[in-house]
Amino acid sequence: MRKKLRRFEENAQRRNVVEPGKPLFETIKGKWKEKQFKNDNPITLELACGRGEYTVGLAQHSNASNFIGIDIKGDRIWKGSSHADTLGLEHVAFLRTKIHDLLNFFAPGEVSEIWLTFPDPRPRDRDIKRRLTNPRFLDMYKEVLEPEGWFRFKTDNTGLFEYTLEVLAERNDIRDLEFTKDLYNSPLNAEHFGIKTKYEKMFSEAGEKIKYLKFRFA
Ligand SMILES: C[S@@+](CC[C@H](N)C(=O)[O-])C[C@H]1O[C@@H](n2cnc3c(N)ncnc32)[C@H](O)[C@@H]1O
Repeated sequence: MRKKLRRFEENAQRRNVVEPGKPLFETIKGKWKEKQFKNDNPITLELACGRGEYTVGLAQHSNASNFIGIDIKGDRIWKGSSHADTLGLEHVAFLRTKIHDLLNFFAPGEVSEIWLTFPDPRPRDRDIKRRLTNPRFLDMYKEVLEPEGWFRFKTDNTGLFEYTLEVLAERNDIRDLEFTKDLYNSPLNAEHFGIKTKYEKMFSEAGEKIKYLKFRFA
């Protein structure tokens, strides 16, 4: 517990963590490039980022974009922000908030790409509304993404993946959808840069195949 508290105190001092209690938390909507990154580069989000492996991994591949990891857990964000600091990646930031509140933090079209990495599968029927590929969340992603922006989703979980494909099939605003139920043996394999999150490692070792899909909103 003391370790967690120390991490929370460090997050409060860090420039790359935007969280409740900091002035930017209230004013950043529509102003990430100007106020946080001080450049005009496109923004990639990683939702449910946990320790931010994608956020940091993608940032290592590209200096030409800004990368923001979002998660509700401060101690996980501390790990990602520590990693980004150690590597000197100034085009990386973390936002501690619930994804439900996404529209409070991003203006329409402010984001160029979204990665959703291994979200909680929420298998119970009564939790369908909490699945991060539920139509309610997709509507939010559509609003913050620029018109040509890609949504990319990686999971080990068959139930959540099938659910997501069904949700997408029922919408009339999805284009350029491609997917695989076995990413590592697919032509789409090159698209994920081989970055493995904590949860991917855990489930791959347990024998689960990694599923991946991408699409754009029409
Ligand atoms: C299964 S973990 C995956 C973490 C990481 N993406 C990975 O692959 O290792 C799911 C993450 O989603 C976060 N999370 C779940 N629901 C959330 C929500 N509504 N808003 C923000 N974060 C959420 C949890 O705190 C957790 O870190």
